[in-house]
Amino acid sequence: MNTEASPQETMRSNTELGYVVPPGAPHVPLKQEPPKGSAEDEARLFYERMNLRRTVRTFSNEPVDREVIEWCIRAAGTAPSGANKQPWQFVAVSDPAIKRRIRLGAEEEERKFYESRASERWLEDLKQLGTDADKRFLEIAPWVVVIFALKHSSDGGQVYYAHESVGVATGLFIAACHHAGLATLTHTPSPMGFLKEILDRPSNEKPYLLMPVGYPTTDCVVPAISRKPLEEISTFM
Ligand SMILES: Cc1cc2nc3c(=O)[nH]c(=O)nc-3n(C[C@H](O)[C@H](O)[C@H](O)COP(=O)(O)O)c2cc1C
Repeated sequence: MNTEASPQETMRSNTELGYVVPPGAPHVPLKQEPPKGSAEDEARLFYERMNLRRTVRTFSNEPVDREVIEWCIRAAGTAPSGANKQPWQFVAVSDPAIKRRIRLGAEEEERKFYESRASERWLEDLKQLGTDADKRFLEIAPWVVVIFALKHSSDGGQVYYAHESVGVATGLFIAACHHAGLATLTHTPSPMGFLKEILDRPSNEKPYLLMPVGYPTTDCVVPAISRKPLEEISTFM
């Protein structure tokens, strides 16, 4: 990749490629650091690192500095979003009393889920994961990060593809936590209205999911499940 192009050259090649810089909309040259290794090596290394990420259900109560969570949220905030509306809000909770309320709210919904709401097939699919209505990890993990999707911006402005955008940002958040050596659990008690109430969020925010974040216990085990191979999840043409 040529990173040496002058701004004039860059503008000319952009125009030749059909990208017209809109008048009055400032643009800057793309900053992109070339990777240290070859593209293939870097992609493989990233895959190998991400392949070690697992959803953890037993957290230690070892504290995690707020700054670490802040960096992970910043990383999530670099996600692309529909029309750059960035329709997300990350609420990071370490207050034990609030975590307790979240646990109680989640367990109430989850009890209903396991007792009557879930279909037989769903419960069957969950069996291998060992999940149940016991969500004590919501109190034990040092942080519970609740992610909200914005229905419209705080000034009433439109947002676009909020669900997709928040999903992408959440993925980056999970990857950033993993990169920092932290474990996460993607948790979706349903319905999640109790989170809005406990966290006193404004009416334009809709709970998306919640995520305990922290270190796994030293004897943590995870389900021996496999990931689909490349051939199954991709089609090249
Ligand atoms: C949208 C979504 C919702 C999930 N909800 C829950 C949940 O409520 N409780 C739970 O224990 N795991 C939940 N999981 C975690 C999945 O069970 C887990 O990602 C899957 O079994 C694969 O395991 P892995 O993350 O270790 O690769 C959820 C994951 C996603 C992406």
